Amino acid sequence: MAWTKLASIGELQRDSVIEVEHGGELFAICNAGGELRAMGGVCPHEGGPLGQGTVIQGMVVCPWHMWEFDSKSGACLVDDRMGVPVYAVKVEGGAVLVDLPEQDA
Ligand code: FES
Repeated sequence: MAWTKLASIGELQRDSVIEVEHGGELFAICNAGGELRAMGGVCPHEGGPLGQGTVIQGMVVCPWHMWEFDSKSGACLVDDRMGVPVYAVKVEGGAVLVDLPEQDA
């Protein structure tokens, strides 16, 4: 795993989510009630952009068909067989760092 800067703290207003592309993958970085969290940015339903969704009571809501995902666990509230990966987050000097899996060179 590797701590990687994906955002700055100032980009994440309370109860908002942003989309970040890194290494060819999309991530959804959110501020859920003041807690920063990171998850995969592609909705497992039909590929909607979770990073362009909304945050309601700790849930990231996909903008396409409103499926809800727990920003802490990645679990899908609509279909428990679906889910998105979640990643550890820490803030250092205003940078939002996400613990991403190492990619093969
Ligand atoms: S693509 Fe996300 S809910 Fe349908």
